[in-house]
Amino acid sequence: MSASAHPDSTDLDRLHTAVKREKEDLAPESKPAPLWAMFLLMLVAIVAGGQLGPMAGGWSFDVSNPFAFAGGGDPRPGGAGAGGALDPFAKAMKKGSSGYAVCGGCHQGNGGGLPGQFPPLANSEFVVGGTERLIRIVQHGLTGPVTVNGQGFNTPGGMQPFGAAMSSEDLANVLTFVRNSWGNEAPMITKEMVQKVRDEEKRTAQWTVPELEPFAKKDVPGEIPAGPGATAAPAAAPAAK
Ligand code: HEC
Repeated sequence: MSASAHPDSTDLDRLHTAVKREKEDLAPESKPAPLWAMFLLMLVAIVAGGQLGPMAGGWSFDVSNPFAFAGGGDPRPGGAGAGGALDPFAKAMKKGSSGYAVCGGCHQGNGGGLPGQFPPLANSEFVVGGTERLIRIVQHGLTGPVTVNGQGFNTPGGMQPFGAAMSSEDLANVLTFVRNSWGNEAPMITKEMVQKVRDEEKRTAQWTVPELEPFAKKDVPGEIPAGPGATAAPAAAPAAK
């Protein structure tokens, strides 16, 4: 007796059993799911997840502040959730630091200016001195010779006015920021102070340094809510210095 199968068995039979083991061919009109459908499903899953998460609580889509929890504010010491909202000085510094982008192109990110072109704001008497002069410079612009930290500047065209382009609040925040960065330390400037100068001084021409001399040491009156030289009653938890 031979080891092979039935004597009638042929190569053709063996071939057919092999073919029958395979899955049937797909119907000619069927196609795999299109790629766009897969992406749509993924998108639905992501969006639905983002909606469901916060409903379940404790989860937020806000990646800009990983410390923002659904139940409360920032739990870090000194964070927005610890002692209530940020104090007005800290808030102004935060907003002013992004607002400073407007000035940084000329006065540089480190406040050091550029020799022969843009005077420094770091350690400048114009910045930490009288608030009335500083507000007027930024509100209306400045032209002609100016000496800062012993360096002379007289850039053609001077500095443009920013009063029309920026709100009183934006200007106040930026000025508070430049008065308290790069080693500078001076009381914050509020939007009420900027507004006061705005209302009192209708001017379109840029200032010159001699014209501003009378305001060099003058501070615009007004409450200083927080930070250096604060006049308002200190908050329950004083901000860490
Ligand atoms: C396009 C360039 C430019 C931009 C933008 C600019 N400044 Fe100036 N700034 C100058 C120049 C130039 C002078 C000097 C003007 C002069 O020669 O009289 C100056 C002078 C000053 C001064 C007085 C001198 C000093 O260095 O202390 C202050 C304060 C000042 N700028 C603040 C600001 C602030 C705040 C901003 C943003 C809101 C700003 N500047 C945006 C060019 C610029």
